[in-house]
Amino acid sequence: MKNYKTIVLSNHEISPDYFRMRILSPGFAAKAQPGQFVMVRTELMLPTMLRRPFGIFRVGCLPAECDGLPPREYMEILYKVVGQGTKILSELHQGDRVELLGPLGSGFDLGTPGKAKLLVGGGIGLVPLFMLGEALIKRGEKVRLLMGGRTRDDILAVTEFERSGVETYVSTDDGSLGENGLVTKVLERKLGKHPDAEVFACGPTPMLSAVANMCAAHNVSLQVSLEAHMACGVGACLGCVVKGVGHSDSNPHYLCTCKAGPVFNAADLDWGKAVVAGSDCAGGGCK
Ligand SMILES: Cc1cc2nc3c(=O)[nH]c(=O)nc-3n(C[C@H](O)[C@H](O)[C@H](O)COP(=O)(O)OP(=O)(O)OC[C@H]3O[C@@H](n4cnc5c(N)ncnc54)[C@H](O)[C@@H]3O)c2cc1C
Ligand code: FES
Repeated sequence: MKNYKTIVLSNHEISPDYFRMRILSPGFAAKAQPGQFVMVRTELMLPTMLRRPFGIFRVGCLPAECDGLPPREYMEILYKVVGQGTKILSELHQGDRVELLGPLGSGFDLGTPGKAKLLVGGGIGLVPLFMLGEALIKRGEKVRLLMGGRTRDDILAVTEFERSGVETYVSTDDGSLGENGLVTKVLERKLGKHPDAEVFACGPTPMLSAVANMCAAHNVSLQVSLEAHMACGVGACLGCVVKGVGHSDSNPHYLCTCKAGPVFNAADLDWGKAVVAGSDCAGGGCK
């Protein structure tokens, strides 16, 4: 993990309220694992504002240019504007300064070679799945992405997944793109066809909870990437804890999403508590 003082290479709106930011990140690509995240801030944020966590969407390298610029390593985040911090990020331009802390957390385990890999993304939850898909394809796996959103505006980067070799299935709640209905309906069908599949999911908690129930019913392994509220990102504030299984209510077992996760085996989490525990932990949040 390193603190990078760096600059924005580009920052564009790719769908209403969704942005894609490319950040110069020398030496970063070799370190980042699928499912890890970064904490981002800019000097335009008030000094009292904390860094904001974002999944690493992809890493790459711009080739050397004929004007003498050397190859430039970059990382990209995809983000939705939901509040003050993301609004400020959305207003950054090429050349503006940003600070990145990362890569942080523990990412996805690539699972057992040869088993069907089903990636399930809900809205912006597709972010940590791109590098995962790339890594699995590189290993020669057959990878399918089931991508769900409320409307077509929430379906992002599908062609990019396809170009990387991932087979994609899109569903929207209002039927404006792909199949009409929830992504879990598509998952149920795919699990019927691939009973030995391994599932990897990221998205809103109700979606993850439904996916966890379905995978448990099919006796299929599931890794989930959680997006708990985070303040420090490095295990110091206990603002991101979730409840693990195996302990009693009087002796609860908490896990820091930023250190033990953000990727967890679904079977290790207490889904009965809807996984979000920040409100009832001893440490409390400091956001
Ligand atoms: C590991 C991790 C990876 C993430 N990856 C991405 C990503 O790739 N793209 C992306 O757009 N967002 C991602 N998020 C969520 C992102 O960090 C928040 O949306 C962002 O911090 C909001 O900052 P803000 O100042 O704009 O909003 P705030 O003013 O802090 O909050 C605005 C609203 O958003 C809600 N909110 C804030 N943080 C979260 C959160 N973590 N989960 C759910 N709701 C939240 C608040 O409750 C509030 O209602 C990730 C979060 C985590 C922990
Ligand atoms: S965000 Fe501070 S401990 Fe996880």
